[in-house]
Amino acid sequence: MESALDYYSARALLEWQIELGATEAILDAPVNRYEAPAQSPARAAASQAAQALPEAKPTVDPVKEAMALAKSTQDLAGLKAAMASFEHCDLRRGARSLVFSDGNPAARVMIIGEAPGRDEDRIGKPFVGRAGQLLDRMLAAIDLSREAESADIATYITNVLPWRPPQNRDPKPDEIAMLMPFVQRHVELVKPEVLVLMGNIACQGVLGKRGITRLRGEWSEAFGLPTLPMFHPAYLLRSPHAKRDAWADLLELKARLLSKG
Ligand code: URA
Repeated sequence: MESALDYYSARALLEWQIELGATEAILDAPVNRYEAPAQSPARAAASQAAQALPEAKPTVDPVKEAMALAKSTQDLAGLKAAMASFEHCDLRRGARSLVFSDGNPAARVMIIGEAPGRDEDRIGKPFVGRAGQLLDRMLAAIDLSREAESADIATYITNVLPWRPPQNRDPKPDEIAMLMPFVQRHVELVKPEVLVLMGNIACQGVLGKRGITRLRGEWSEAFGLPTLPMFHPAYLLRSPHAKRDAWADLLELKARLLSKG
């Protein structure tokens, strides 16, 4: 029996698939795996034999490869191209965009977030969803903006991960480790005066520790720069009571910029 879906049901099904991360059509037509022919005996034997073999050791170290690649870059365009050519992080295969940065690279303040979400993946820029809009309001409260041309009031924004993890899951330690050399090079090329780390993942990548409730509001040092951890704006959306602490941290940042300005 033929079942014709109405427009709204078809759209709801499509949105559901996108939500699950199935955002790419691999073939022109769907394949019904239940109707696929059974494996030939020869193929089954070959796959059994392959399973019996001890797992081959990876011949490359993704962290070392990332370090060499990142080091070889001379400017931001080169760094972005190097990241696009880096094949060892599987997240790239499920993502629509490589989300590199936004804002003014001449800014005194460089912000490092976690990873793109759905909106960032779609648009190709960091912090453009609800958390990003809150971030913009937080920055505006201390007279900073990612749109500003003047370096004094500008910000530059990137993430630890340039690719969206499926269903926005937390990045895994090996993913963070292999992408940190690119973050470090990013900081070296932008040469900001201060770094701001948004949330636990940024702290884990840059400072090697988590515990944002303890770390926030205290200056530490990373890549030779003064570094201020803060609550992630997505956390502030879920926990408005923490906005008071975030406000104190913003004032701390502003005071630092004024004292060195
Ligand atoms: N959260 C992040 O940490 N980064 C983004 O780009 C968006 C949301």
